[in-house]
Amino acid sequence: MTTTNKEALSIEKRADGVFVIRMDVPGEAVNTLRASFAKDFSEVFASIENDAACKAIVFTSGKKSGFIAGADIAMLEAVKTDTEAAELARTGQKAMDRIEAFRVPVVAAIHGAALGGGLEVAMACHARVASDDKKTKLGLPEVMLGVLPGAGGTQRLPRLVPIQTALDMLLTGKQIDAKKAKKLGLVDEVVPNAILIDVAAKLALELAQKHGKPGKKEREKKLEGFDAVQEAALTKTPLGRKFLFDQARKQLLAKSRGNYPSPERILEVVEKGLSEGFEAGLEAEARAFGELVVSPQAAQLMTIFFAQNALKKDNGVSDASVKPREVTRVGMLGAGLMGGGIAYVTATIAGLPVRLKDKDPEGVARGLGHVRGLVEGRVKRKRVSRQEANEQLALVTGTTDDATMKGCEVVIEAVFEDLALKHKVLAATEAAGAPDVIFASNTSSIPITKIADGSKHPETVIGMHYFSPVDKMPLLEIITTAKTADWVTATCVELGKKQGKTVIVVNDGTGFYTSRILGPLMNEAAFVLSEGVKIEDIDQALVDWGFPVGPITLLDEVGIDVAAKVGPIMLAEFGDRMTAPPGFEKLIADQRYGRKNKKGFYLYEDGKKSKDKKVDTSVYALLGLEPKKHLPADEIAQRCALAMVNEAAHCFGEGILRSARDGDVGAIFGLGFPPFRGGPFRYVDTIGAKEIVRRLERFRDRLGVRFAPAPVLVEMAKTGQTFHGTNAIKPGGFPRKKKS
Ligand code: NAI
Repeated sequence: MTTTNKEALSIEKRADGVFVIRMDVPGEAVNTLRASFAKDFSEVFASIENDAACKAIVFTSGKKSGFIAGADIAMLEAVKTDTEAAELARTGQKAMDRIEAFRVPVVAAIHGAALGGGLEVAMACHARVASDDKKTKLGLPEVMLGVLPGAGGTQRLPRLVPIQTALDMLLTGKQIDAKKAKKLGLVDEVVPNAILIDVAAKLALELAQKHGKPGKKEREKKLEGFDAVQEAALTKTPLGRKFLFDQARKQLLAKSRGNYPSPERILEVVEKGLSEGFEAGLEAEARAFGELVVSPQAAQLMTIFFAQNALKKDNGVSDASVKPREVTRVGMLGAGLMGGGIAYVTATIAGLPVRLKDKDPEGVARGLGHVRGLVEGRVKRKRVSRQEANEQLALVTGTTDDATMKGCEVVIEAVFEDLALKHKVLAATEAAGAPDVIFASNTSSIPITKIADGSKHPETVIGMHYFSPVDKMPLLEIITTAKTADWVTATCVELGKKQGKTVIVVNDGTGFYTSRILGPLMNEAAFVLSEGVKIEDIDQALVDWGFPVGPITLLDEVGIDVAAKVGPIMLAEFGDRMTAPPGFEKLIADQRYGRKNKKGFYLYEDGKKSKDKKVDTSVYALLGLEPKKHLPADEIAQRCALAMVNEAAHCFGEGILRSARDGDVGAIFGLGFPPFRGGPFRYVDTIGAKEIVRRLERFRDRLGVRFAPAPVLVEMAKTGQTFHGTNAIKPGGFPRKKKS
């Protein structure tokens, strides 16, 4: 018999006395916890409180492939005050307490994602059984939104798994699979989905027989031997806790530079709970949750989350009805660093067969070896089984023959960066393939329009700009020309999403979007250096501002030779503001290319940057500099960051970008723009266009024309418009004047 409550929750009363409560939020693909959830939970549990037939409960999801994906973020975004948010947390905590205090055992049966509030529900249950499915993932990703788990998660997780693991999961938001969760003690059993409910029911009945009503003892960690001793020392003694949290705080600050309050608050409330008890921990959690939800950092991180979600639904063209064509096979030309990486994500994430072509058998073997290396790494780290790995590897086949590209709906090229060669492989692809084969170039600097000039079907030519290393970098920048057909764009956007990428679509232009805005940032860092500021001071200033690495380190990583090649192209295209500081040609004359030849701004040992990252001070003499000048860190950061932000505004005004949202996402996921600042366009909106223009003009007057504010910013400063929101300015209103 099944009864329903508030539509989202239903109860199936089994003959064996196990009541199965299913959550199935109507009209949604996944379950999320909405404002009404605590009330709904409470009513459902109240309705069976006095039902003598109920011996035990299984709590599960009615959705095919998801448990509970977390709290409804829109609900959090709508909260206005910290008191209101803290109250929301307390209500959630009470709902969890209600489950935990229920008169019979409650076992969570988890199939699919149990994230955030979803995992908090599962942890409030007396035991957990998870399916062995790939989709089953457990985690507390709240930190990525600038908040913390507010329904008891900061208190229950450290009481279920080893403290170091709990902190790691809470501070990084990482998700773990069912097998790992079992090993850590977060779930009790892992079984195939087909028998999930039955196994959970059996366990629930066993618990009922053993204990009647299980007490909190059920939550004791299942650790033995040394692990148990170490765990007790770290969590149960004041000295152990001091050591643990001091260390954790130090490591955290080294990474966050104090820019992100949420991980610091997580440490604080976990420590509070361990030293003063569960209830005190819960109260600290609710208060911290309240303050974080309304913090500016959380506001920015939530907008990024919404932007990413919106991009998942975007087909990449203005006509939303355009459908992608089916892709059954991908051709990959060039089996080098990029080609190998693209083949890997195509086979392992998109699950599509790939023909990997290089010019000779050695190249093919290198590329296949690259893919194999990445797959084997995941086998070693137990991320995939041997059998899965073999299936993935079988999807990638090597070739030196263009004719074998036949049958591929999309062919991606990542051969050497040379226009004549790109034209040659384009012609070969068109000769071998169907007339509507899509040719996607991964060029980093050649305008796609120039490549399309060599095509018989320019409407099928597009740019797919991946970032290195492809298996790790989340962004894909797709570049369309004036001739690219909408179905081609939609097909490549869909392919990119299947490869696990966050995809933005931009219009063609020198440097596209990401490389174009990176140029001025690195160039400004070079200017600061040319004034005699120490290299480490420059890098440190930008890392403190929130970038993952400093611009001079990045120059070494990207390659000083690459920058030297791209610089003049940008200068020819965009004029004065791309002028490089004098003297940098000496670096090339000295064969200082960066990490690739172990000779750059920093010292290298065995191809790796030395551990304490020492600057190669001989570079100062080479550039004729004495590194004696001191500039305030904030000024260094502002000069470099505003150079990037101003260029992003140029891209927006010229219509390179389709929206400010894409510009923010591209800068954050492609270049590491500080997420808590929301991206270049959110940054302008936060500070105000008027103030940004004022800062740029001050720099322009002091340092030169390269800081002249982009026309769109000047206009916004006048009109009070913003990049986002109800008073937003439209992209493309300031086309670049063609040089005569
Ligand atoms: P790479 O030098 O590692 O690989 C190029 C591969 O193309 C080599 O294996 C080479 O044998 C092969 N090749 C040359 N002629 C060929 C032909 N006719 N048919 C098939 N294969 C041929 O270079 P990498 O770094 O992979 O770059 C490839 C492309 O990706 C370039 O256009 C580059 O600008 C672009 N790119 C590179 C990024 C990077 O970080 N390395 C980032 C984004 C784009």
